[in-house]
Amino acid sequence: MTDVLCVSAATQKFIECEERYGAHNYHPLPVVLKKGQGVNVWDVEDKHYYDFLSGYSAVNQGHCHPSIIAALTEQAQTLTLTSRAFYNDKLGEYEEYITKYFGYDKVLPMNTGVEAVETALKLSRKWAYLVKGIEENMAKIIVCNDNFHGRTLGVISYSTDPSSTAGFGPFLPGFEKIPFNDTIALEKAFQDKNVAAFLFEPIQGEAGVVVPDVGYYTRVRKLCTKYNVLMIADEIQTGLCRTGNLLAICAEGVKADILILGKALSGGTMPISAVLCNDEIMMTIKPGEHGSTYGGNPLACAVAVASLKVLKVEKMAENATKMGELFRSELAKLESPFISLIRGRGLLNAIVINHPNKDAAWDLCMEMMHNGLIAKPTHGDKIRFAPPLIINEEQIMEAVQIIKESLQILY
Ligand SMILES: Cc1ncc(COP(=O)(O)O)c(C=O)c1O
Repeated sequence: MTDVLCVSAATQKFIECEERYGAHNYHPLPVVLKKGQGVNVWDVEDKHYYDFLSGYSAVNQGHCHPSIIAALTEQAQTLTLTSRAFYNDKLGEYEEYITKYFGYDKVLPMNTGVEAVETALKLSRKWAYLVKGIEENMAKIIVCNDNFHGRTLGVISYSTDPSSTAGFGPFLPGFEKIPFNDTIALEKAFQDKNVAAFLFEPIQGEAGVVVPDVGYYTRVRKLCTKYNVLMIADEIQTGLCRTGNLLAICAEGVKADILILGKALSGGTMPISAVLCNDEIMMTIKPGEHGSTYGGNPLACAVAVASLKVLKVEKMAENATKMGELFRSELAKLESPFISLIRGRGLLNAIVINHPNKDAAWDLCMEMMHNGLIAKPTHGDKIRFAPPLIINEEQIMEAVQIIKESLQILY
């Protein structure tokens, strides 16, 4: 694995500082970014790159989107945090806006994605006991193999990825894993009357952009309704236009009982997440039973409204569909022997690298970085390509050219 190839002294200084004083819980590419605008980022030596990761899909609207930054700076100079001990003049407005936007009775605001997942799980357990009538402490939640829902102890308790779980036990009980994209296994799991919910990613992002069969969302919806089980869609990575629809499950006109959002809800400016559902579920939680100091702060509310508005105003879902199709078809035209699979929907895409060298995906990312495009391998042999949704045709063509040139390194 080639890691630090000829980085300048200036770049090396920043890397060493992080290595020396920060936990080693990530393995970044050796590029030190200092500025971003739209689909572009620049490093500390003013070298330009196309950003094909978009902060793991948090920067759907593009870096430093002017409307989002305007909302952020205006609110930052007015009022930033009240806590939920008091009302503020931005929260209600945001709650009305986001609930009407997605068609739910209520929202519960949190900060990071994983907190919103935890919130959805707590809500579904409460609902199971208070509404469905499951015996206390018996509720079960069905999840998928190869899931990624974040990093808390509760959430890693049902991870199937050893690098997420090794050395962190004991884990939380109450979860059952089934294969993704398998509604026969789902229906079998639903035979247990203690099942409260099914939590899933509409496309498994961290697993390498695994897209289920057409009809999966519809079948999941039908089974959840039939067995009175809550359908929880974790749209933290797939939502907010990333896959060419407002939400990935909208591709089949399906609505989840609980919707989880995060990442691009702030356009990459700060951690903002949300859980949306109807009153029958949301009203099972009473004052004092759940919350967060920063959840629903006025700064986040102003930023989230602006972030949601620009998605629609700039028709980012439509652009993601168009540019995604172009990107995948141009990649296919390369006919590279090193790409065994191109998959994805909208602008959430991945390639699977076929090469005897197990570090080939990493080496290709290093070469692309050299040539002006940054992307990151996931699970060894896959590379995710997820640029901001404002990317245009010319930029896609240039990016594909960079990928083409970079593939030469694998010969
Ligand atoms: C589907 C999904 N759920 C949850 C999370 C966790 O979000 P966060 O890192 O903001 O806690 C992620 C992050 O990548 C994700 O992709």
